[in-house]
Amino acid sequence: MLMVDNLVKTFNSGRRGRAKKADGAQGGRVLAVNDISFRVKEGELFTLLGPSGCGKTTTLRSVAGLESPDRGSISVGGNVLFADDQRINVPANRRKLGMVFQSYAIWPHMTVYKNVSFPLEVASRKERLPKQEMKERVAQVLEVTQLAHLADRPATNLSGGQQQRLAFARALVGRPALMLLDEPLSNLDAKLRESMRYELKRLQRELGLTSVYVTHDQTEALALSNTVAVMCDGKIVQVGRPREIYERPNCHFVADFIGTSNFVSGTVGESRHGEYRVETQMGPIWVSSSIDLAVDSNVLLSIRPEHVSLSRESQPDETNQLLGKVTNRAFLGDSVDHILDARGLSIRNRSNPKISIEPGAEIYFSVPVDKIVVIPLDS
Ligand SMILES: Nc1ncnc2c1ncn2[C@@H]1O[C@H](COP(=O)(O)OP(=O)(O)O)[C@@H](O)[C@H]1O
Ligand SMILES: [Mg+2]
Repeated sequence: MLMVDNLVKTFNSGRRGRAKKADGAQGGRVLAVNDISFRVKEGELFTLLGPSGCGKTTTLRSVAGLESPDRGSISVGGNVLFADDQRINVPANRRKLGMVFQSYAIWPHMTVYKNVSFPLEVASRKERLPKQEMKERVAQVLEVTQLAHLADRPATNLSGGQQQRLAFARALVGRPALMLLDEPLSNLDAKLRESMRYELKRLQRELGLTSVYVTHDQTEALALSNTVAVMCDGKIVQVGRPREIYERPNCHFVADFIGTSNFVSGTVGESRHGEYRVETQMGPIWVSSSIDLAVDSNVLLSIRPEHVSLSRESQPDETNQLLGKVTNRAFLGDSVDHILDARGLSIRNRSNPKISIEPGAEIYFSVPVDKIVVIPLDS
């Protein structure tokens, strides 16, 4: 559906007067997008996830036609929108894509209805719909975005969530082949953001929209997406289903960025039926790995806090049971975090609030073999 190949975009450094990271600058230019390629399937919600400044917005704006890339190609549904080698660069207003940005800039002097109908009214004579059809189209979009009852209200008299839905409705009304969403929920407070997240997912599913979604919020990305592409310094470092990204990060950056994790380095020792004993500072840990690990090679283990379980007594049959000491405890409402000291390593645990162990206590902790992510360091 959407194909992006070898996209490169540089900017003159300093144009915005912002400090630039030394590694992003190239002879007075900032390499904002550094040769990225990705595919988005029909009906899919595809997310570009990464920290601020990694090139998400620039990628999205290049697809939209709001930035002119240095190199690469972009096509939607087989139509080439940009190709440097063919000198094709379709202007933004002819790409027929829906866009919703963080600052959604609805038109304040118009009613809700008018905000949505306007893009249809200003279409070229050739493309303009008959009046009746236009009305039906607007009514339908207001219906799915649950704004129908507010049609006559001035757009300024709307709550944050309603304004966000309106921006979405306006982008939808032209029935775009592809929706582009750049941090559309980041101006909303936490509670509203969460409910809008479900709302967006519902609309996406119901309307079978193909979307590219940009966010720096890993929870949002995991909750919303069919596919997540994690970006770092202008590059895509991993693409996968949310579960894959979370459970099988392919590098330290991804594991670190997606949620909080414990990282423990170690050396591979003996192996048994695809399981390996890794020697670490806190003791031996058995892990399973689908790729072969060489004896004596160095690995990084990523262990999620929620996979560390605590027990006051030793459980004789438990694999990966280690001894530690609680140094800190934090109550987080729906969970309790304990920080353990395990032979000098700091390990974070996340428990059910029923389990609460006082700092200073000696404690056994364990991690299931299949929950540990192994990141080879030598390859
Ligand atoms: N118009 C511009 N002029 C100069 N530098 C820019 C411009 N737009 C973006 N950049 C730089 O490109 C890099 C990527 O920015 P951006 O795509 O906005 O990242 P993100 O959306 O992931 O936060 C950053 O270093 C940013 O400062
Ligand atoms: Mg951005």
